[in-house]
Amino acid sequence: MSTQKVEIFDTTLRDGEQVPGCKLNTAQKLKIAARLDEMGVDVIEAGFPVSSPGDFKSVSEISKLVKNSAVCGLTRAVKKDIEVAAEALKHANKPRIHTGIGTSDSHIKYKFNATREEIIERGATAVAYARKFVDDVEFYAEDAGRSDNEFLAKVCTEMVKAGATVLNIPDTTGYCLPEEYGRKIKYLKDNVPGIENVTISCHCHNDLGLATANAIAGVMNGARQIECTINGIGERAGNTALEEVVMILRQHPTLDLNTLIDPKFLYDTSTMVSREMGMLVQPNKAIVGANAFAHSSGIHQDGVIKNRETYEIIDPAHVGVTESAIVLTARSGRAALAYKCKKVGYELTKLELDKVYTEFLNYADDKKEVLDDDIHEIMELSRKKNIAIA
Ligand code: KIV
Ligand code: ZN
Repeated sequence: MSTQKVEIFDTTLRDGEQVPGCKLNTAQKLKIAARLDEMGVDVIEAGFPVSSPGDFKSVSEISKLVKNSAVCGLTRAVKKDIEVAAEALKHANKPRIHTGIGTSDSHIKYKFNATREEIIERGATAVAYARKFVDDVEFYAEDAGRSDNEFLAKVCTEMVKAGATVLNIPDTTGYCLPEEYGRKIKYLKDNVPGIENVTISCHCHNDLGLATANAIAGVMNGARQIECTINGIGERAGNTALEEVVMILRQHPTLDLNTLIDPKFLYDTSTMVSREMGMLVQPNKAIVGANAFAHSSGIHQDGVIKNRETYEIIDPAHVGVTESAIVLTARSGRAALAYKCKKVGYELTKLELDKVYTEFLNYADDKKEVLDDDIHEIMELSRKKNIAIA
């Protein structure tokens, strides 16, 4: 089987920017959009143009700037939203309108006070109207994760007939289990006439920590687009993290799926988004967290010093991280201490190492982490205790 492409739809500037405190100005959005374009993102969701004049301006400026990626604007299934989005996207090389409506019983009843038939009618009218402005129209079935599969298939069938080019199946509330979400995608593939002519998209939220697993289950069952954000930022617990899906597909060639993203940009882009949004990245965040390539326990450090692959499945250089880190703590062993000592200029014999190690443990017990400067101090303390050091 030849490797199939999974399109990356980045919504950092829309779903990501909805996070309280993460608001960006147009200049910041342009900077991030330029990077997303450079790193190989297929679609940049630039904003929700009708939501504010500032968002309209950002989508419009991003449309002028971006060279390769498609630029997408979100709308509700409302004519005015679609007209405003079309206007904001008019300079884009590849414009896409993303329109849709809720399809779960809860959304139909409480948000729209409507019937299932009315929802289909409103969705299809919006898709057909959006097609008057652009050739590329993505339909989202909001809360598809909790929508009845049979009804969802009916909705999708009508949206394909109305001219949708992409069907987005959001797990808006992050409710689904991976197996369940994968089955949903397969059900649609098997039960929507004409679905082979459109792209199925996964848009997963992280309320149960399953956003990435669900997106991967989706593409394993036939979806060919993943909607994600840098660092997994997004509403509530966030969205699928771009860096995670890109590396999962690269590290698992047996899936026969890949993206066009150049991974060497991942770390720097994570840092850029974190800085611009003022949103810290948790240290244990996969791929881009400060500890993603840091080793602190003695057993792991010994292995990594002998051969990096003993405890690392990714070469940090591939994602733009300079090197793995050996972090000295009271849990470190002699191998790590000798390694760090050598780095700061002390070559120790085995006997010296044994003696300095005892001094190191006493010192490290009072500290969270032993830094390079601390090593000089440990050496000094050792010397004072007449431990011979070359
Ligand atoms: O989570 C969601 O359902 C969304 C849609 C607007 C695509 O963000
Ligand atoms: Zn969302």
